[in-house]
Amino acid sequence: MESAGILAGPMLRRGDTESVAICGAMDCPVEVDAAIYFLDTLIQLDTATKTTSIRAGHRLFIHLVQVRGQFPTETLLGYDLFFRVGKIINTLGSLRLFNKNEYSITYDGRPYPSLFIPATAAPTFLYASCRKFHRKGDDALIAEDGLLKRKKRNLANQPATMLLTGDQFYADDMADPLFPVIRTIAEHYIGKEDLRQFDLRLREKPFRTAAWQVNGGLFIS
Ligand SMILES: [Fe+2]
Repeated sequence: MESAGILAGPMLRRGDTESVAICGAMDCPVEVDAAIYFLDTLIQLDTATKTTSIRAGHRLFIHLVQVRGQFPTETLLGYDLFFRVGKIINTLGSLRLFNKNEYSITYDGRPYPSLFIPATAAPTFLYASCRKFHRKGDDALIAEDGLLKRKKRNLANQPATMLLTGDQFYADDMADPLFPVIRTIAEHYIGKEDLRQFDLRLREKPFRTAAWQVNGGLFIS
């Protein structure tokens, strides 16, 4: 299992003046460390990292990286993560997730993904709800990505929080073409699961077959 593939994230979950929490999912067990920088000077802040890792499947590892320190408000900070697999250490940069790359996750030419801690309780925020691919309407996350790209280094009008409410995916009501794709990916990363161990109804008709059919989960829940 020699890999360091990021499956999801890094996602900044929370930041305050004493701690910053970042989470992500990887396809292999790794040791994860983090660094926080002043974005203007690239000077590293004095921090201590504690990472909690959960194995959620055969090739699915979820990490919560908690960085403790003294973090200033109203100041652009940047973060990087360090993934150690054996003797190999990757960073977000070495995984080609930084500027001047089509997969960059940074905005406005910044050298690291950025965050700032507002001095007052969340003055501006982004909001999205009920993310469903086969529903009318555009994807709010894409609109928010465009909005952040247009914002310049003016913290006063930069969102400090993103609220995602409702369902962010509909496990029992997904777009039909996605069903076989997700089943294949799920088996690869989570492994084969006998769902009947979770609910005895899945041993009987009609649920015995519904669980494996497109949108069959709608009739079970
Ligand atoms: Fe919903």
